[in-house]
Amino acid sequence: MNNDHYNIDKDTNSYNNLEGQFSWRSPSNIALVKYWGKKAVQLPLNPSISFTLNHAHTTTSVSYQKRPSSNDWLTFRFEGKEETFFGKRVQSFLESLTDIFPFIELLQFEIDSENSFPHSSGIASSASSMSAIALCLCSIEEVISNQKQNKEEFLKKASFVARLGSGSACRSVYPSLAIWGNAKDITLSDDHIAIPHQDYAPIYQDYHDDIIIISGEKKSVSSTAGHKLMDSNPFADTRYEQARNNLQHLLVALKNGDLDKFIDTVEEEALTLHALMMCSRPSYTLMKPNTLAAIERIRDYRLRKHVPIAFTLDAGPNIHVLYPHQYVSEVKDFIKEELMPLTESNQIIEDQVGPGPIKLS
Ligand code: DP6
Repeated sequence: MNNDHYNIDKDTNSYNNLEGQFSWRSPSNIALVKYWGKKAVQLPLNPSISFTLNHAHTTTSVSYQKRPSSNDWLTFRFEGKEETFFGKRVQSFLESLTDIFPFIELLQFEIDSENSFPHSSGIASSASSMSAIALCLCSIEEVISNQKQNKEEFLKKASFVARLGSGSACRSVYPSLAIWGNAKDITLSDDHIAIPHQDYAPIYQDYHDDIIIISGEKKSVSSTAGHKLMDSNPFADTRYEQARNNLQHLLVALKNGDLDKFIDTVEEEALTLHALMMCSRPSYTLMKPNTLAAIERIRDYRLRKHVPIAFTLDAGPNIHVLYPHQYVSEVKDFIKEELMPLTESNQIIEDQVGPGPIKLS
């Protein structure tokens, strides 16, 4: 596949039904092997793999009708209010897609979006929001071009389009686990789309991810700026090699249900992501003191109680606690007693591996 894979001739004469509405609910995902470093329009410099989450999701409705000649062709509302910052990002995203979806230039859109997770939770919403928009656009295309695709082709295209909005978003269109980026021995893996990953032991099917909100502060470096720092990071090549190896280790751990290997790999990935940011120029320390305190408590609890919990981190201070469903009651007690006091406002988002996006209309 290449970046022009879905570009089509702009024959818009065959379109009909230029009015309608679609809604999709699309989840966030948490990377186990991280995407950090990209080229061109979100082509990753190493492969990544993520759990698709269940409760942290974005619901997006896109209403469309024939565009009048006015310039105002997009209204974007977030949680019922017009929002210009993300609205601008959505506008340039749509403008960038006219080779793939020529109908965009013929339509006027009203987009309403809301997240299931609080605004100040520090959870990155670009994966869920960009994948929800991509899914709506693919649904619109089916109707106005009167060409229904099979589910696999539909999700492939949604993944491709979501990636153009935000890299990690391309993994959100699949249930449970998704791999994005060319990976050794995974025949269908591709830098342009994510693919579903189904070769895993049952223990991961309902794995938990409880997100401990150490701080809800806005991130001090955007992901896009963070990826850019990798271009001059002295450890970049070694890092990409490490990620490729870690993906191989993790695939074995997923297949065999090897939790020790899972924990070692996932934690190394999280800490490497932060180490890379610390040794970039300019340098960023995105962990807070309580992030480190939580990591120590998690590791200590694991050793003391022989409960296989692990942590991972996004590009921010909040801790994702990962554990198998069978330990739910003791881990929830541990979180309440030992991690809750480290949060800013007792905020914890309880999530789990989920079934992927749902079409609502
Ligand atoms: C640390 O997908 O948010 O969460 O492609 O620039 O939109 P852009 O970046 P984004 O980066 C996510 C980085 C990460 C790791 C990951 O999800 O793999």
